[in-house]
Amino acid sequence: MIRKAVLPVAGFGTRCLPASKAIPKEMITIVDRPVIQYVVNEAVAAGIRDIVLVTHASKSAIENHFDKHFELEATLEAKGKQELLDELRAIVPKGVNIISVRQPEPLGLGHAVLCARPVIGDSEPFAVLLPDVLVDDEGLARNDLAGMIDAFEATGRTQLMVEEVDWATVHKYGIVSPEGEPPAAGQSCRLAGVVEKPAREQAPSNLAVIGRYVLPGSIFSLLAETPPGAGDEIQLTDAIETLRQRDGVDAWRMCGKTYDCGHQLGYLEATLVYARRHPRFGEGFRELMARYSRAE
Ligand code: G1P
Repeated sequence: MIRKAVLPVAGFGTRCLPASKAIPKEMITIVDRPVIQYVVNEAVAAGIRDIVLVTHASKSAIENHFDKHFELEATLEAKGKQELLDELRAIVPKGVNIISVRQPEPLGLGHAVLCARPVIGDSEPFAVLLPDVLVDDEGLARNDLAGMIDAFEATGRTQLMVEEVDWATVHKYGIVSPEGEPPAAGQSCRLAGVVEKPAREQAPSNLAVIGRYVLPGSIFSLLAETPPGAGDEIQLTDAIETLRQRDGVDAWRMCGKTYDCGHQLGYLEATLVYARRHPRFGEGFRELMARYSRAE
């Protein structure tokens, strides 16, 4: 069973400035909770119990969000605000542990994942979730990460979540080259290659890796040997390509929808989608939408 996940959160979030100047970009609110809380919920829904945050000194608000706030809880209790109290206590579901390690230098995503090695160890598979990306599983019986974990457990092969992107944006992503036809949604296929941020002319397809991975513990020794690649950073994609040549790697074609919350329009879109169906605010929000669309 895959029980551990790594969430790299040490990055400065320059794409989200000025919002992310004094708060971590992962703490930007979507409706009534920070982005990172949705990502942790997604991991927990897929069976993850130990969440390893790879973080930085300037981002302690993330650890604080998942810590118990004793004084606040005591105040709410004294005032009889039970509903709020229950909500706060549900931020970290029972049986889930939030652990944090530091990434001492910004040497790339591969290096960030490598910082979790002492907590995960080399013999256990684990998931990686990049918290910029919200994966919406509305209407699905199980989320994509759960499907990827099943596929890993059935085949023993690494799973990379992929979806089609515009050809004009392939240089921003890890791009995969499927062996044969690309898989249908909710299925995996073997890969003939994966390359980080290729130029459009060199990209083998427009199927991009979208921030969710299920990896074997053996990736750590490969990461430790991986030299800097694209952007002069130690790239997770490069270590995965080495692993692919040795053991094979699969792409999981996602079923859900993604929102890039590392970008203003992405988190505005996520806010719109999540607000419309929110149990408490949905109705009021839909009225606001109707009023402002009439005003245009
Ligand atoms: C990272 C990965 C890249 C992936 C992307 C989106 O890039 O290195 O392979 O496609 O996330 O999930 P970044 O956006 O950190 O530059």
